[in-house]
Amino acid sequence: MADALKIGIAGLGTVGASLARILVSRANELAITCGRPITIAAVSARDRSRDRGVDLSGAVWFETPEAMAETADIDVFVELIGGAEGPAERAVRIALSRGLHVVTANKALLARHGVELARTAEEKGVLLNFEAAVAGGIPVIKALRESLTGNTVSRVYGIMNGTCNYILTRMEKEGLTFEACLKEAQRLGYAEADPTFDIEGNDTAHKLAILTTLAFGTEIAADEIYLEGISNISIEDIHAAAELGYRIKLLGVAQRTESGIEQRVHPTMVPHDSVIAQVDGVTNAVAIESDILGELLMVGPGAGGNATASAVLGDIADIAKSRPGAQRVPVLGTPAENLAPYRKAQMQSHEGGYFIRLTVLDRAGVFASVATQMAQNGISLESIVQRANGGAPTDAKTIILVTHATSEDSVRRAVAGIKSGSYLAGEPQVIRIERPKAL
Ligand code: HSE
Repeated sequence: MADALKIGIAGLGTVGASLARILVSRANELAITCGRPITIAAVSARDRSRDRGVDLSGAVWFETPEAMAETADIDVFVELIGGAEGPAERAVRIALSRGLHVVTANKALLARHGVELARTAEEKGVLLNFEAAVAGGIPVIKALRESLTGNTVSRVYGIMNGTCNYILTRMEKEGLTFEACLKEAQRLGYAEADPTFDIEGNDTAHKLAILTTLAFGTEIAADEIYLEGISNISIEDIHAAAELGYRIKLLGVAQRTESGIEQRVHPTMVPHDSVIAQVDGVTNAVAIESDILGELLMVGPGAGGNATASAVLGDIADIAKSRPGAQRVPVLGTPAENLAPYRKAQMQSHEGGYFIRLTVLDRAGVFASVATQMAQNGISLESIVQRANGGAPTDAKTIILVTHATSEDSVRRAVAGIKSGSYLAGEPQVIRIERPKAL
């Protein structure tokens, strides 16, 4: 049997500890599958004394990830610390420059520095694997980077944040408050260290930026993503969506349009009978639409220790199975030097259906005025209903509109017109509608 692959793990939190337990408990099976043993030769974590349910006494402990990257006797640096800057970034740069393979689950790091890191890895002839960075255990990176080569992708979208999907599902199904659901997601180890990254959509945006590059062969453009989180979604929206035959999901969507590539993250209404609408809890789903294959939908566990560790383990196993001198798969699917510049499609030109919920004062002419604003902006309506309940104060009414496909610009102008009518009793709620092709 070939020599052992020596790995160093930086970060022994939820994911790092799961990974270490799996590597130790499945050592024999892994050695057979990979043709060589995988050993944990080095670790770096803040708290050395914590019981993690695994014996790491055989590994060399390092005070900092940077020191481990610089001096440890390892073949692979596994970064499970997180964060776009700071120790994780410094250590990954050191490891790559030293010619070590790197495996990371760090979406923020890749969204910010991915192209540069890919270039370094390619120059050094080492692998930079990051399957766990997007959609937890779902092998979507491999699908885009390798399996769909030659396809022209038109749209990639999905539920990529387990915490948000968990919150939206429990609010809808159990009537729990947003805060109670978030606390539970944190307790279960799904949420980011700072959960505003989850609920404000930043985490989904980081993942989307990575998928966009893999899908369209363009440079990473995380700062060009239109972003709205779920903190503004009320139980009234969820109920109204259900009545109209939709469910609300936080989606990340990247789409090829005539004017460029559209990247957006926002709460989205998806038709109740679509597969993605049925994806509940911490589960993630990623749909890829391409010309040769057609529509592909991958669904699976999106966050948590074992789901993420499974993807990290797959990346480590790929390195264990590869042979020195073998041709490397480009880190981002396309060699970093061949990535095209990102051409942004403006959000104003986004075309799609919209759900608009208005809380209006109960007086004559309001309904007609709302309808007029829609007509003046060329917006065709699929439905418009007015009701006395729906969470509106007692002296107000709720009007819910669902539009046929129209432009973001038209909707913004219509809503501005409605706002200037001085009959609103609350902020209008606007939620975009996304329609899967067939699934
Ligand atoms: N906080 C992330 C989520 C973890 O909830 O999906 C996985 O990236």
